[in-house]
Amino acid sequence: MRIIKCKDYNEVSEVAAKIVAAQITVKPNCVLGLPTGSTPVKMYKNLIKMYNRGEISFKEVITFNLDEYYPISRDNEQSYFYFMHDTFFNYIDINREKNVNILNGEADNVQEECRRYEEAISKAGGIDLQVLGIGQNGHIGFNEPADYLESNTHVTALTQSTIKANSRFFNDIEDVPKQALTTGIWTILKSKKIIILASGKAKAKAVKELLSGKITTQNPSTMLNVHNDVTLIVDEEALE
Ligand code: F6R
Repeated sequence: MRIIKCKDYNEVSEVAAKIVAAQITVKPNCVLGLPTGSTPVKMYKNLIKMYNRGEISFKEVITFNLDEYYPISRDNEQSYFYFMHDTFFNYIDINREKNVNILNGEADNVQEECRRYEEAISKAGGIDLQVLGIGQNGHIGFNEPADYLESNTHVTALTQSTIKANSRFFNDIEDVPKQALTTGIWTILKSKKIIILASGKAKAKAVKELLSGKITTQNPSTMLNVHNDVTLIVDEEALE
């Protein structure tokens, strides 16, 4: 695993945006895997700036988001569908109808939705660059620590620690959905390149385990140690 040590969150966001922009430059019709959460917000802001300066275009870019709460409607401000449009897609020239893919948090048949999503990623040729954040407990996407991890896109129960961590976005902890749809460990590992962003003290323990080189289902990010093109972009606080 390559490690890019950054001073702070701003530098993590700059480095990550540059890597995404470079991917788009070498392959304008690339497939990006994208995360939500707090960490990538500034990376998205930097990419919007690059787009506004005419340095990159998302016209042909295809995106697949990692996960979505379940059940949740797309117009709920806490849905990842809403977040991605409000934070990123509404400000760039991506084809929102055709090229943006986000798991449907309102699907009646979740198994079918997960199967459809997995197939759509394959049909698009697989993910060229997957951007990840990391949970305080080491989760990636919503692949939570457990005795067994799922390979493919699936419905999952959120752990109490993730419900608590994510309650900061909701009015009340009771409003946090208890389930989510998420791409699986193999869906993520099939990506050609992966970058994982970590910033702040709260991530230090998970990052330490990731860098130990040991693999455990109790910290799903450690699975990334079997991939041959992973770059951790990490700031000083998350490395302590
Ligand atoms: C969200 C996702 C999650 C987050 C993780 C870190 O799409 O995949 O795994 O990356 O929960 O979230 P933040 O960045 O808010 O600390």
